[in-house]
Amino acid sequence: MYKISVIPGDGIGKEVMEATLHILDALDVEFDYHFADAGDEYMEKTGIPLPPETLDIVKNSQACLFGAAGESAADVIVKMRQELDLYVNLRPVKSYPGTKCLFDNLDFVIVRENTEGLYIGREEYTEDGAIAQNVVTRKASERICKFAFEYAKKTNRGKVTAVHKANVLKKTDGLFKEIFYKVAEDYPDMELDDRYVDATAMFFITKPEMFDVIVTTNLFGDILSDEGAGLVGGLGLIPSANIGESQGLFEPVHGSAPRHAGKGTANPSAMILSAVLMLDYLEEHDEARRLEDALIKVLAGGKVVTADLGGSASTMEMADEVKRKLEAQI
Ligand code: NAI
Ligand code: MG
Repeated sequence: MYKISVIPGDGIGKEVMEATLHILDALDVEFDYHFADAGDEYMEKTGIPLPPETLDIVKNSQACLFGAAGESAADVIVKMRQELDLYVNLRPVKSYPGTKCLFDNLDFVIVRENTEGLYIGREEYTEDGAIAQNVVTRKASERICKFAFEYAKKTNRGKVTAVHKANVLKKTDGLFKEIFYKVAEDYPDMELDDRYVDATAMFFITKPEMFDVIVTTNLFGDILSDEGAGLVGGLGLIPSANIGESQGLFEPVHGSAPRHAGKGTANPSAMILSAVLMLDYLEEHDEARRLEDALIKVLAGGKVVTADLGGSASTMEMADEVKRKLEAQI
């Protein structure tokens, strides 16, 4: 029995969460759900977007499923990443059948440092304009590189690539690159290399199959993750994991999509795949593969899918179909 905190949030976040929990019922794993509030709707009622009770519920759980917040997203999800020290942002770039992906056989992951770099937010106005600090610490670089190598090892991936711009950012990215190679010494069997971020952006389009696990700093990771999402088509399909020392938070990359909210038209795949990442995090790998395979069957079938995938099914109809495929597996 796993203790899971659940934050449906706003808009389609609530709908894709309901759909996903419906499917998780059919797995051979027991979950003890603890529901918690956060987001715009909660803020309208109470004046605060992320109550301390919610943080406590998340801290006391083994993993958290998060739907989406609306305008308060920065005060909710960014705050949670900081408060829980979720220093890894993991984004798979994987092609699924029946989707508008640009390449058919992509399967790599981006491991983005989630706590520092330019996103530390130390900016100030100067006489001439404005200036921002780019913070790269040894500690944060070491733990993110170590995570990337451990993840590669655990998931039987053969290669880790560090992405940086150390030719220009000699000290900050230079340090990141240096630490990457130092951490790599503990993984002599792993193939490794490093690339400049600008070249990487091009190779995503020209030779994406060259990547396996990418580890990179916060800003580059943010940009490359969205480029990766573009390679495998559509926000409705892209999951993510935020991982810390003792906590994992799993969420679709999309937001509350107000235009779709309340209509039952949102694609539940990104939330379902976030649950797949959670199952892998909990070391429930067999169940993770079962859930992913059930979704793949529905995507490949192309019939009971939502409008963004060319079908006309509702969120719940698609979820029901995934659940049926799951139950049909032995
Ligand atoms: P969004 O991801 O909510 O929606 C953008 C567009 O992508 C939608 O209009 C829709 O066409 C499509 N889309 C997204 N998810 C889909 C799904 N599951 N199925 C089908 N189509 C889907 O991004 P947007 O419009 O920029 O932001 C809307 C709100 O969400 C804002 O208030 C923003 O602050 C918030 N947001 C929250 C995030 C979070 O909670 N992590 C992340 C991004 C945005
Ligand atoms: Mg982003």
